[in-house]
Amino acid sequence: MLQLDGLGYRGRTCVVTGGASGMGEATARLLGELGASVHIVDIQPPKIACVAWHPCDLSDFAAVRATAAALSAIAPIDFLFPCAGLPPHIKGPLYCMRVNYIGTRLFVEEMVPALADGAGIALISSDAAMGWQGNLAQCLEMLAIADPDAAYAWAAADPEKRVRDGYTSSKEMLVVWVAQAAVKLGLERRIRLNAIGPCPTRTAFMDEQEKLLPEGFLDKWPYPSLGRIATAEDQAWPLILLNSPLNAAVTGAFLYTDQGFASGVFTGAISGAFMGREA
Ligand SMILES: NC(=O)c1ccc[n+]([C@@H]2O[C@H](COP(=O)([O-])OP(=O)(O)OC[C@H]3O[C@@H](n4cnc5c(N)ncnc54)[C@H](O)[C@@H]3O)[C@@H](O)[C@H]2O)c1
Repeated sequence: MLQLDGLGYRGRTCVVTGGASGMGEATARLLGELGASVHIVDIQPPKIACVAWHPCDLSDFAAVRATAAALSAIAPIDFLFPCAGLPPHIKGPLYCMRVNYIGTRLFVEEMVPALADGAGIALISSDAAMGWQGNLAQCLEMLAIADPDAAYAWAAADPEKRVRDGYTSSKEMLVVWVAQAAVKLGLERRIRLNAIGPCPTRTAFMDEQEKLLPEGFLDKWPYPSLGRIATAEDQAWPLILLNSPLNAAVTGAFLYTDQGFASGVFTGAISGAFMGREA
């Protein structure tokens, strides 16, 4: 019989990328409160208590491989939470694709040998990826390129078409990769792989992003479930619930944690008028 303590994290080993800020930080903190041993992988040092900080720049593929190799010392790892990511205007669209998708995928793939059979991986895409099905053919083309340097070169060869703003495309790639890779990971190792798609959430990321938005834009965004912009903790909980062993039937999923935004737009219950256009 399945033995669980709460959500199943007590005494388990977790690795959180992006754990130094925002949703990753909230996830790492809550996992610690649930009794897990938490390791943080981030380019900047964490502000919260954890077992160890593993400095790593996800845009540096050699560093990603070295960090994953170092983390194999704490194998078997029970849960991965790849939360790190950045908006496109910080260092441009190609860099955004490099960190948000290519570096994140490489990190997860390098970590797989150190994961326990039956482990869980829950990462953060975005509701910006809600149009992924319209770009599926191109996503599958990029997905087939396993080597990170080759994937980056493919994107860089036609950035206008293959990268666009860098953010939407990288988050669509995560959704399509999760859907495909989850099947293989499940069949081979009973490892689950899922993603969440947050709406606007108050973090350092959104403080930066907001500088480019029209005045008051985030106040006009519809927030059916919370009635306000989400906090990092509002997003950390679905990530933790999705990755819990209680959720064993769920893999390959893209869960919108967007207060009903995507479903509202898909069905016409939410109009795009607040964005200055009809949905
Ligand atoms: N905030 C939002 O409204 C929103 C909405 C949808 C999706 N997201 C996604 O949520 C995730 C978490 O973002 P957040 O909002 O908590 O932002 P945040 O800026 O608070 O946290 C992002 C973390 O990623 C780390 N990071 C950035 N670049 C890195 C790199 N090259 N290597 C290693 N670590 C790196 C940062 O140091 C930081 O700790 C991101 O993937 C983001 O794309 C955010």
